[in-house]
Amino acid sequence: MSLNGLIIYNGSLYSDKFIDYANMLKESAIKKGHTIHLVKNNEIHSLLKTNELALLSQSPLKSIDYIIFTDKDIYLAHHLEAMGYRLFNSAYATEVSDDKIKSYQILAKKKLPIPKTLIAPKNFINPFENNTKFLNHAIKSFNFPFVIKEAFGSFGEQVYLVHNKSDVENALDKIGYRPFMCQEFITSSYGRDIRLQVVGDDVITTMKRSSEVDFRANITSGGKMDTYLPSEAEKSLAITATKALGLDFAGVDLLFGKNSERVICEVNSNAHIRNLLDCTGVNVADSIIEYIDREVNK
Ligand SMILES: Nc1ncnc2c1ncn2[C@@H]1O[C@H](COP(=O)(O)OP(=O)(O)O)[C@@H](O)[C@H]1O
Ligand SMILES: [Mg+2]
Repeated sequence: MSLNGLIIYNGSLYSDKFIDYANMLKESAIKKGHTIHLVKNNEIHSLLKTNELALLSQSPLKSIDYIIFTDKDIYLAHHLEAMGYRLFNSAYATEVSDDKIKSYQILAKKKLPIPKTLIAPKNFINPFENNTKFLNHAIKSFNFPFVIKEAFGSFGEQVYLVHNKSDVENALDKIGYRPFMCQEFITSSYGRDIRLQVVGDDVITTMKRSSEVDFRANITSGGKMDTYLPSEAEKSLAITATKALGLDFAGVDLLFGKNSERVICEVNSNAHIRNLLDCTGVNVADSIIEYIDREVNK
């Protein structure tokens, strides 16, 4: 059966990265013979009534077989699912992978390897003053340097390596009231990680990222990409992490632990697949569309 799909992307972000991702998926869907529309999240409005869930939109939303939800507008994702639409990734999976604290909690519960992490208590006033006891625990648990990481963030921009109390103060100043955690710094992985792209039960392609200028391996922070042949153990860890968070597909970042073990850094529900294409020549969008086609036609 030829499918009718919708790709939802964020309408408020002006970076080309998001529309590029949506367009890559669209091209693959068209190749597969699907009918496909791109819609911005801010062009669909969720209406709730006592007896009805509805959508206010000018886009054609009838007879949609699947929605690829490339955005993080969780309320919209849940609303669409409540109306019966099939989302890839699901609202739950998108929600927990967007929130790094929730992700680590789920991964730890499944006994998967993560950096030792201490979650900051929720604060309503004076974040710095009220965090003194917590920060003392963090300093004792990790020693300097350690990582302060916001629950929500991308491109490495909300991840800080702190070497002393003054770095901590600067990081907390930036973070304000947003949720964050302190985390052991995996020194053996300084500026390096591997990105494995999982779709369903398979690792589709992998790259290694390394930076000579920053502790973060993100390309945006100066990381350089290289092809990488993952071991069976690395593949299996990436697939297990993806499934633990309920994701259909994900870009999984693994750090290099001090005894050559791999440690999960994060699981991205909407990974930047253009970089993977540039580095490895593999178009992950094709695999995602193949997977969706199989799942919806099941
Ligand atoms: N605990 C850690 N130890 C060592 N390096 C880390 C740690 N956490 C993050 N990093 C580095 O910082 C980068 C960005 O962190 P990540 O948690 O993936 O946030 P983002 O979502 O912004 O990419 C990682 O790719 C990795 O290179
Ligand atoms: Mg990352």
